[in-house]
Amino acid sequence: MERLPKHIAIIMDGNGRWAKEQGQDRLFGHYHGVISVRKVVEAATEIGIEYLTLYAFSTENWDRPQAEVSGLMTLFVDTIAKEVPDLHKNNIKLHFIGNLDMLPKEAQEALSNAMEITAQNTGLTLIIALSYSSRWELVEATKRIAQKVLNGSLDMEHITEAEISENLTTSEFPDPELMIRTSGECRISNFLLYQLAYAELYFTDTLWPAFGKEDLIKALSEYQSRERRFGKTSEQIHTD
Ligand code: FPP
Repeated sequence: MERLPKHIAIIMDGNGRWAKEQGQDRLFGHYHGVISVRKVVEAATEIGIEYLTLYAFSTENWDRPQAEVSGLMTLFVDTIAKEVPDLHKNNIKLHFIGNLDMLPKEAQEALSNAMEITAQNTGLTLIIALSYSSRWELVEATKRIAQKVLNGSLDMEHITEAEISENLTTSEFPDPELMIRTSGECRISNFLLYQLAYAELYFTDTLWPAFGKEDLIKALSEYQSRERRFGKTSEQIHTD
């Protein structure tokens, strides 16, 4: 239980391929993906992880076939409505990041409601990235900073790394120390590009609907076996 990351970020990939293996349609895979979300949230709570960010829907995912997009929106709204009482009972705080204005009104209401109900909880913070892309987020942050410089509330010299972090959608959370991607793809795909600067990256061939507690533990033990040097030498790390 030592040297655990405070914040884990996950790209949940492979729902479609998993469904195909079962001879089912893609939405069947997404429904089973929700079961994995539940398992991983339970395990993260048990282990004592403080922040868990899940990439549920990217800005690019809007370009998928309309039936899949609307199926996913229904799944998000239904799952959130169904799970909020249990999440609340388990002291979990829900947060959503992304271009939420692009979501259907019904989804926006479900998200605000979930955040409001769980706002005072002090256990795991579960951050769901919906209609999120890191480049979108960086553009928004840049505009906000430029606005502050324009209106005189910020000097150019005070545009620091911290100032950029404060203008990202994740400003309230520490950067993830571990990023997991399932399904054998070894990419970051426009996810938390600034925040993952020093994260350990863990890729597994397991498809998301097949991912569970044991897989999370495996990723955590791999993380614990790695030496995080932040640009220093191994000797410096051991004498610090
Ligand atoms: C990627 O697999 C998965 C998605 C785009 C959707 C992920 C959504 C869930 C797991 C539901 C989560 C629900 C909540 C409420 C958090 P893919 O479709 O790209 O799979 P493929 O690469 O095999 O085609």
